[in-house]
Amino acid sequence: MQIDDASLVPYVRSLGLLPPGRRLEVEPAGDGNINYVRRIRAEGDGSVVLKHARPTLERFPEYEAPTERLLFEHAYGEVVQEVAPEEADVLPRVLHFDAEARALVLEDLGDAPRLEEELLAGRAPEAALARIGRFLGRVHSATRARAIDLEQRFQNLGMRELHGEHIFTFPFEPNEFPIPTEVRHEARQLLEPSLRERIRELRKLYYESRQALVHADVQPANILLVNGAPKLLDAEIAHVGDPAFDVGTVLAHLHLHLARRSNDPALRRAERSLLEEYRAGGGREKDLGRAYGYAAVEMLRRTIGAARVRAVEDPSAAVAALRHAASLLGR
Ligand SMILES: Nc1ncnc2c1ncn2[C@@H]1O[C@H](COP(=O)(O)OP(=O)(O)O)[C@@H](O)[C@H]1O
Ligand SMILES: [Mg+2]
Repeated sequence: MQIDDASLVPYVRSLGLLPPGRRLEVEPAGDGNINYVRRIRAEGDGSVVLKHARPTLERFPEYEAPTERLLFEHAYGEVVQEVAPEEADVLPRVLHFDAEARALVLEDLGDAPRLEEELLAGRAPEAALARIGRFLGRVHSATRARAIDLEQRFQNLGMRELHGEHIFTFPFEPNEFPIPTEVRHEARQLLEPSLRERIRELRKLYYESRQALVHADVQPANILLVNGAPKLLDAEIAHVGDPAFDVGTVLAHLHLHLARRSNDPALRRAERSLLEEYRAGGGREKDLGRAYGYAAVEMLRRTIGAARVRAVEDPSAAVAALRHAASLLGR
């Protein structure tokens, strides 16, 4: 079933989640990059958010992605609820799930700021990052022993690959991404053969590890801060893989800012708390070295890949990020 602007209101009405007899108003939620995400408001009383996966991406209709991605997003929440119920409040509450329609109805978290905007504004919310660290440590440690069973349930191969190629392959091959000349030039200079070899090793680990359940897209654009508490969205790439990959993604986005604010004590504290709480939640120390490798690759792809971030819009910030990433990758 395909949900569109015409069928959305009768569909949501039929679920009985909002008070009856009210006019329902629809507005986009978020920036509509990948999925069809809408807020449905009952006049005067209550609202929900509906996320619907279509075969092509909303903003990039030239890309296709399997709609099963929404089933994996839902399954991720179910597993967290089962293995780490005390951490489940980090995920938005699910009000309704329709596997056939590829639709997930979530509690409306409102217009909470994203962690990405907080970092861009020069802040580094330590408590939120600590909580994300704890969450990841718990989910990784609680799913290790069942990784083999969970792997049967998380055959999210299409999304794992789409994501993986955008991270580990496309940015490092000839491409047409609109990258400023000086940034391209800097990347070519920095990415000497030994670093390229390290990227290939990490790519292999990303695809071949089967250690624990990973969310796989813990970027700060997917973390809303609701009264300071983090809410992690968008588990559509969840798979059984390398736990260091999740930690690396969070670290990357802190280090995109540390590249230019290396002495910012708030950013350093946030990084320390993230890692301390990751260990406290049961995350393994020995995964953290690899996490910095993944962080470096994520920084590179966010600077010279298809999905560049605002933190590196300015070419001098991009060059600083590339140098910082190369030093992390080489250490
Ligand atoms: N439960 C929610 N409450 C409020 N806003 C939400 C909720 N879920 C998603 N959003 C908004 O929609 C955006 C896209 O949602 P997300 O799950 O990340 O989908 P996509 O796969 O399209 O990125 C989020 O960045 C956020 O702004
Ligand atoms: Mg998202």
